Amino acid sequence: MGLPHYGTKCATRFTATDLCRNEFTMLRPRPLIRILHLSDLHFGPPYLPEVGDAVVKIAPKLNADAIVVSGDFTQRAKRDQFEQAQEFLRRLPNVPRLYVPGNHDVPLYRLKERFFNPHGLYKEFISTELNPVLFLEHAIIVGLDSTAPKSAISNGQIFSWQLEATEKIFAEAPVGAARIVVSHHHFAPAPDTLNDRSMPQAKRAVIRFVEDKVDMILGGHLHRAYIGNTLDIYPGVHRERGIVIVQSGTSTSRRGRGREREKNSFNVIDIDADTMKITHYMYFSSEAGFVPESQHLFPRGLRQLPAETDP
Ligand SMILES: [Fe+2]
Ligand SMILES: [Fe+2]
Repeated sequence: MGLPHYGTKCATRFTATDLCRNEFTMLRPRPLIRILHLSDLHFGPPYLPEVGDAVVKIAPKLNADAIVVSGDFTQRAKRDQFEQAQEFLRRLPNVPRLYVPGNHDVPLYRLKERFFNPHGLYKEFISTELNPVLFLEHAIIVGLDSTAPKSAISNGQIFSWQLEATEKIFAEAPVGAARIVVSHHHFAPAPDTLNDRSMPQAKRAVIRFVEDKVDMILGGHLHRAYIGNTLDIYPGVHRERGIVIVQSGTSTSRRGRGREREKNSFNVIDIDADTMKITHYMYFSSEAGFVPESQHLFPRGLRQLPAETDP
C-alpha cells in the first residue's frame, strides 16, 4: 500500500472564494503555512493503538503543509519500537517532515550503546539528521537535538555550537519567513505545579533566540500541552519581544501528565503574515477521535500602535 495522498490544498493567495473548511466547520482563509505538531509517540508498551489510528485518520483532513514530531518516538529505543514508529510515520500525509530525537530515543540501560552509538537506531529508522533544517516557502524550521546521553538521564542540553548554527541560518532567512525552533526538551517550564526542570542554561538559549527573531519554539517531553510566551517565564529580558512557546502533549501514549493525565493531544499551527494561531486538539474516547480543545492567537513581530487622535 502506498503513502496516503496529500489532500487538496487551497490557494496560498486567497480571494473571497478561495476558502478552506477547517475542523471547526468554519470557513476561513488558508494560512500561509500550517504545521501539524505531534510529540512523544512512545512506541512500546505505553503506545495506544486506537489513539495512533485516530491521529492517522484525522491527519489528512488537517491539510498541513509540514509535520513536526518533537521526539520520544519510542519508549526504550528498541529496534522493534523504532520499526513501529517508522510504520506510523509512513501512514501520515506525504508532506515535508522535521523530526528531533527525545531522551527515550537513546538506550537507557544498554550502556555501551548509550555511550558509543546512542542514536544508531534513531538514524536507521527515523532520520539520519539529528539537527535538521526544513526550508519551506514561508517558514524555516530548525531542529535541535537536545538529548544528552552522556550527561543526563532524562533532562536535555543545548550546546553553544547549536545556538551559533541557528543564528547563522536565521541571519540568512528571507524577510517575512516564520522562524521556528524545535527541540524535544523544553526551554521554559509549564506554568503548573509539576516539577519540570528546564534544560541547563535554557534562559541563555532563549535570549539568543530572541536576538535571532525566532517566532516560535516547539517542544515535547512534558507530556502535556502548554502554549504561552517566554516572557511569562523570563521577564525583564528583551521585553519588547518574546517567543511563543508551543508544547505538545503525548500524541499517542498513555504517559500524559498533569492536566493531560491519561489524555492525548497535538497542535495545529497556522502562521500568517501578522498572526500565529495554535489549535490544541485532544483525544476523547467518547468521540473516538481528536477534537479541537482550545485556540491561542499571537501577533507576529512588533505591532505599530495606531496614531493617537485628539478626543
Ligand atoms: Fe516523552
Ligand atoms: Fe522525553
